Amino acid sequence: MEVADEPNKAADGEGISWTSDLNKRIQNQPSGDKEKNSLKRLKHLHQEKVNRIRGQNRINVHGCDVPDPVCTFEELQSEYRLHSRILQNLKDAGLDTPTPIQMQAIPLMMHGREVLACAPTGSGKTLAFCLPLLTHLQQPANLGFRAVVISPTRELASQTYRELLRLSDGVGFRVHIIDKASLAAKKYGPKSSKKYDILVSTPNRLIYLLSQDPPVLDLSSVEWLVVDESDKLFEAGKSGFREQLATIFLACSGPKVRRAFFSATCTPDVEQWCRLNLDNLVTVNIGHRNTAVETVEQELLFVGSEDGKLVAMRDIIKKGFLPPMLQQRDNVVNSFRSGHIWVLICTALLARGIDFKGVNLVLNYDFPTSAVEYIHRIGRTGRAGHCGKAITFFTENDKPLLRSIANVIKQAGCPVPDYMIGFKKIHRLIIIAVVA
Ligand SMILES: Nc1ncnc2c1ncn2[C@@H]1O[C@H](COP(=O)(O)OP(=O)(O)OP(=O)(O)O)[C@@H](O)[C@H]1O
Ligand SMILES: [Mg+2]
Repeated sequence: MEVADEPNKAADGEGISWTSDLNKRIQNQPSGDKEKNSLKRLKHLHQEKVNRIRGQNRINVHGCDVPDPVCTFEELQSEYRLHSRILQNLKDAGLDTPTPIQMQAIPLMMHGREVLACAPTGSGKTLAFCLPLLTHLQQPANLGFRAVVISPTRELASQTYRELLRLSDGVGFRVHIIDKASLAAKKYGPKSSKKYDILVSTPNRLIYLLSQDPPVLDLSSVEWLVVDESDKLFEAGKSGFREQLATIFLACSGPKVRRAFFSATCTPDVEQWCRLNLDNLVTVNIGHRNTAVETVEQELLFVGSEDGKLVAMRDIIKKGFLPPMLQQRDNVVNSFRSGHIWVLICTALLARGIDFKGVNLVLNYDFPTSAVEYIHRIGRTGRAGHCGKAITFFTENDKPLLRSIANVIKQAGCPVPDYMIGFKKIHRLIIIAVVA
């Protein structure tokens, strides 16, 4: 487990300055020793309070000169000039108090810090990066895109787009999502009016537009680049995404660009990449890394064989529904959102980031291919503090992967038979041929 760093331990004068008002007062204090001492004591007490807040909310943060977490959205208005209309929009949406990731990631991004953030599924990461973007941009400006959010799927990109629209309602930001690449040239090309502020896209569409000659998209005014589900993007054709990211970074050629990476799971690969490529990185983890959300009751169910799955499913759901067709992805997803479809059979494509309200059961019909995939799949329920349930079928064939999933379940406090934990780990065999 990672331990919260002393936020003030960086060498004096290094990095950005510490944000506490108390610190400034100490530094500017011309008067006698007595007053200096009492301010130092105040600072010490303040630090204790900050540590307590981080401890209570399981906020683990690594990096130097880390700003204090915020405990209310109102603080964002007084300290960081959050737009009063956005604050009102938050209240109207029933969002009263920041979640732990929001408490720490928002002040960090408001200080222009580059961030790698890892927090459980359904814990409000979207708001954690959307609020700083909107606050940072302050108001619409006809300068072209000043913030870009990259999402692995277009469903997730649409969801983030809608969230940005909802949050900035009444402020006038022009949020865009690339629907049809063919229309993008007209909308965003060199001759366009530049009357747009925020872009949400999958990496493929972005790269396609950037690779046109001349490029259809100008990202030179971008100040914030956010990569959501960052480990997923690194996973899918590992080297491919790195190249894509490099192209996108290069296109964001302005002097002010800052970057933030968010996900519920984080691999050493991503962390290493961020340490190498980001500036004065701060990592934020909520609770233990790579664990399942604790609001989901998890169960592993042995079903013997493929046929057994159907029998077991019949037991769980009463007969009589038609699986929706995934060719009509958007329609199906919308119908599910609006409650017209009650059961959604989907592939792991919808396992990441999608926020369906009211899902109370995730049924893993086919065994997940990794613990990371399992964490995201079951994270479609038990969101925003609500309770949920996840049942995972397994057959004889799934035994090699059973142990890693059983460990995730055990770590979340749900019961698993000891024999499952005892299963042998799969060891990959690497044969290196030495040619004499
Ligand atoms: N401060 C808050 N208070 C209450 N609910 C919130 C708060 N912030 C976000 N939510 C709600 O929590 C739900 C999950 O948020 P979000 O989709 O951002 O989770 P996430 O952390 O990105 O999850 P995932 O890892 O699955 O992508 C949403 O319905 C959102 O409206
Ligand atoms: Mg998310």
